[in-house]
Amino acid sequence: MTKSKHEIVVLVGSLRKESLNRRFAEALVRLAPADFSFRFLDVNLPLFNQDEENNPTEAVARFRETVKAADGVVFVTPEYNRSISGVLKNAIDTGSRPYGQSVWAGKPAAVMGVSVGPFGTSMAQQHLRNVLAHLDMPTLGQPEMFFYANESLFGADGTLGADAGKLAQAWMDRYTAWVKRHAA
Ligand code: FNR
Repeated sequence: MTKSKHEIVVLVGSLRKESLNRRFAEALVRLAPADFSFRFLDVNLPLFNQDEENNPTEAVARFRETVKAADGVVFVTPEYNRSISGVLKNAIDTGSRPYGQSVWAGKPAAVMGVSVGPFGTSMAQQHLRNVLAHLDMPTLGQPEMFFYANESLFGADGTLGADAGKLAQAWMDRYTAWVKRHAA
């Protein structure tokens, strides 16, 4: 039986209260079609320690189970020193272990990000793509979602500005179609 809803998890790699990436991600998921739900995961997990990988905290166990049950994963990353944030890498490493029990393999993924620098997280996203390739996650190539946080990025009331909104809608249409192809 086919599921009525496709469930996607969203990982935002910033813990900052006023995170631009979170604000962006919240505006993005408003563009989702009715047969998709997007759920934000808490990435504020304990620092991964391989000694404890068979003894997960409740938060880690919940994180792993939620990703395992998802039909796709969206990574919204800030750029920290030309790479992804430590908090995001920690969450990815946490889900990848114990060896042979990674929760990521095969999940259709997408990457995007917002930065205050003009390259719009492009370097961080490129690093992230390498990691996801190793984790065997098919990752959407286009449209590329690099966002520079200028005054036109956001619109009113939690929406995106006109240009970003157009690109985000194109991404949403393509990503959701692609998740369905993977589910088939
Ligand atoms: C940054 N920032 C940043 N920006 C960028 O475009 N390239 C970079 O390499 C970096 N490096 C960097 C390192 C560290 C440690 C911090 C805290 C910040 C700036 C970054 O784009 C900005 O703080 C964003 O607002 C971070 O995303 P959130 O937290 O708003 O989602």
